[in-house]
Amino acid sequence: MDKIKVLLVEKSSSDRELISETLSKIDYINLVGEADNAEEANYFLNDNYPNVILIGTNLELDRHNLAKSISNEYPDIAIIMIENELKEDTMYKALFSGAKDVIISPFTSSKLVDSIFRAAQLVNEKSVVHKDIPVKQRRRSGRGHVITVFSTKGGVGKTFISTNLAISLAKDSDKRVCLVDLDLDFGNTVLALNMVPRFTILDIVDDIRNIDQDIIESYLIPHESGIKVLPANAKPQINEFVNSEHIEIILRALQGAFDYVVVDMPARFYEPVNPAFQVADVLLMVTTPEISAVRNIKASIQTLQELNFPKSKIKVVLNKADSSGQIKSKDVESTLNQSLYEIIDADYKQAMLSLNDGIPVTIGKPKSPISKSFNSLAKKINSEFIESGVK
Ligand SMILES: Nc1ncnc2c1ncn2[C@@H]1O[C@H](COP(=O)(O)OP(=O)(O)OP(=O)(O)O)[C@@H](O)[C@H]1O
Ligand SMILES: [Mg+2]
Repeated sequence: MDKIKVLLVEKSSSDRELISETLSKIDYINLVGEADNAEEANYFLNDNYPNVILIGTNLELDRHNLAKSISNEYPDIAIIMIENELKEDTMYKALFSGAKDVIISPFTSSKLVDSIFRAAQLVNEKSVVHKDIPVKQRRRSGRGHVITVFSTKGGVGKTFISTNLAISLAKDSDKRVCLVDLDLDFGNTVLALNMVPRFTILDIVDDIRNIDQDIIESYLIPHESGIKVLPANAKPQINEFVNSEHIEIILRALQGAFDYVVVDMPARFYEPVNPAFQVADVLLMVTTPEISAVRNIKASIQTLQELNFPKSKIKVVLNKADSSGQIKSKDVESTLNQSLYEIIDADYKQAMLSLNDGIPVTIGKPKSPISKSFNSLAKKINSEFIESGVK
């Protein structure tokens, strides 16, 4: 194996020394340069073309901007960001800037070496995967619209909304719709739809080199509503083999095969599912009428905007709305400074029954207020694309 070439960008000389000493002991790692500013980093980037760049905590520049510009210009160089504290916000800022991994200082030498090794492997795999897929199969023809359903708070109704929305979109518009469960560790769309997962995302990952818009269909499970479903894997520990390159290939293939790709997300930002943000045409942010949920969503929206995610794509859905609730829809709107895209009432009885029976409310109770909200949500989404002329 060739040595992994590493460039270190860090202002503090003591930090640089510590890292270079650690790396000098590893014979398959070669520290090809040390830089303490962007100019120097660029010099080494052009000259030595490292495989991995370590961005330290002390720099007199916006470290995330640096990461972003490097990852745009040199997509096959893996960026690792060193951070001072473990906060969700720091993690997703780093990952959104294109970093492949984040390590928290202080770290052990094995953590550092392991991270470098894995990051280098990831970019290596990526170039192999892309090389092996014929260009024809990677083309985006008749691009479908991706609706990503997200919140960083668990239990607000992402799965409930994505399953019912997918069904409503299929009913309302007679369009081809698929539902993808990207809650890789805890995905439960198959429970909500009472389906047996014949294949899961992991089977597609195993076959990733052959995946195109035709082949991917053979992995999907048809639901009686007409939608097709791609379930998450039932064994969380296995999902560490799934990375963002795989997810990007899967989503692009699905966009080629369907009019709508509805994506049910995990309750956190993390690297493997980043493409679901990048390719989203509509990002449905789900909140409930609780202060903690609204605060959560406000922070997520702010972060997404700092990362230049287009505000026009962010739509907020208030779920489990309740007239006797902690806060009213008007309060949610004024806190977020954004009007609500849809309000879905709380109906605990129907929600529980639908989950127990595996029959979504939009099928089991099509006339209920909740189902009407889903029909209205589907109509709004349809009209987004007609009005904007996006195809
Ligand atoms: N409008 C609603 N009224 C009543 N109960 C609801 C409503 N929407 C969702 N629920 C219930 O809330 C619970 C959590 O919903 P769901 O699993 O969809 O949330 P989630 O955001 O996907 O959670 P996780 O983050 O764990 O994936 C479920 O029991 C669901 O039936
Ligand atoms: Mg869920």
